[in-house]
Amino acid sequence: MRDTHPTCAIPFFRYQGAFAAQADALVDIFRDVVSRGAYIQQRDLADFEHHLAAYLGIRHAIGVGNATDGLIMLWRAVGLQPGDEVVFPSHTMVASAASVTHAGGTPVPVDCGEDHLIDPASIEGALTPRTRFLLPVHLNGRTCAMAPLEAMAARQGLGIVEDAAQALGSRYRGRFAGTFGLGAVFSFYPAKILGCLGDGGAVVTDNDDIARAIRLLRDHGRNETGEVERWGLNSRLDNLQAAVLDHQLATYGTTITRRRTLASRYQELLGDMPQLSLPPAPNAHPDHFDVFQNYELQAEQRDALLTHLSRRGIGALLQWGGKAVHQFTALGLRAHLPATDRLFERCLMLPMNMTVTDDEVDTICHSVREFYGC
Ligand SMILES: Cc1ncc(COP(=O)(O)O)c(C=O)c1O
Repeated sequence: MRDTHPTCAIPFFRYQGAFAAQADALVDIFRDVVSRGAYIQQRDLADFEHHLAAYLGIRHAIGVGNATDGLIMLWRAVGLQPGDEVVFPSHTMVASAASVTHAGGTPVPVDCGEDHLIDPASIEGALTPRTRFLLPVHLNGRTCAMAPLEAMAARQGLGIVEDAAQALGSRYRGRFAGTFGLGAVFSFYPAKILGCLGDGGAVVTDNDDIARAIRLLRDHGRNETGEVERWGLNSRLDNLQAAVLDHQLATYGTTITRRRTLASRYQELLGDMPQLSLPPAPNAHPDHFDVFQNYELQAEQRDALLTHLSRRGIGALLQWGGKAVHQFTALGLRAHLPATDRLFERCLMLPMNMTVTDDEVDTICHSVREFYGC
């Protein structure tokens, strides 16, 4: 997500500041990797993949160019056929749906629930004889309530592929996002909780055949001997990026704890306001362990609040530029999604990242309260 307020006193995300704190370690990593000439598919990538898989308790993690490519390759690996329909929540990045079209399928948008995530009730009405997959998107650092989705998939004979681009480390009933379906993707875009210095992503799966297919697909269809087994892409996670990510993964638990602390502070300072609907506080629900990729709330008079915050030098942001996927009319995805339409009149995100200080959260909350006069 791009920060539209780079000159704010409290910008939505500090792209320069995010990495300044680790500058020495990063320079050491560059020197080490570059001096070895280890750029493509070298040991740093293998190490990172090993550590990511171990963190998630899953058999395979495969570094890819970005999460969008990861999804496109995943659809090929799981056998999506032309005309197959994939049900996805319209409150997501366009990439979730675009991946389906690039693989020859048809994305079918559905509504979201109170939690801003895919609404199982909305899925029921979207199923057709051509539906083959569900694509839950674990948005904002929360894993979808998977029990109803798994039950529906089992009942209807559908496969589940997870878009976990925003949810590394979040859990539902103790299970990590990305470990429920046939496969899942994570994004390492710089503003992600585990962010690299450019584009990056991973596909994870417990299925050996899918893992092998992804390894082929990301490297021109080539196997270990260089034999081309199928049409592939060039979508490998750079070795240098993998080394950076491996370094950050080592302290990922601390990172999550800090974000949960920030979320608690927002809750403490804004939780009593009837004009707002905040995301659930950390530990609010025993089924969910949230990692707060974003702090997305709903607010009355949202647009006026945004203007007020902007005047106060605070970079609040609308996800996806303020539109759900079905609202981009050029894409031709016609759907009646009243909950999502209403959400997009009310939702905004407040700064939530590792450079935001406690004092800055206090300032943000003070400005929000000032706007509503309380
Ligand atoms: C929910 C979701 N899906 C997919 C993507 C695409 O990820 P990438 O930029 O790594 O391709 C993003 C990126 O922000 C995302 O938020």
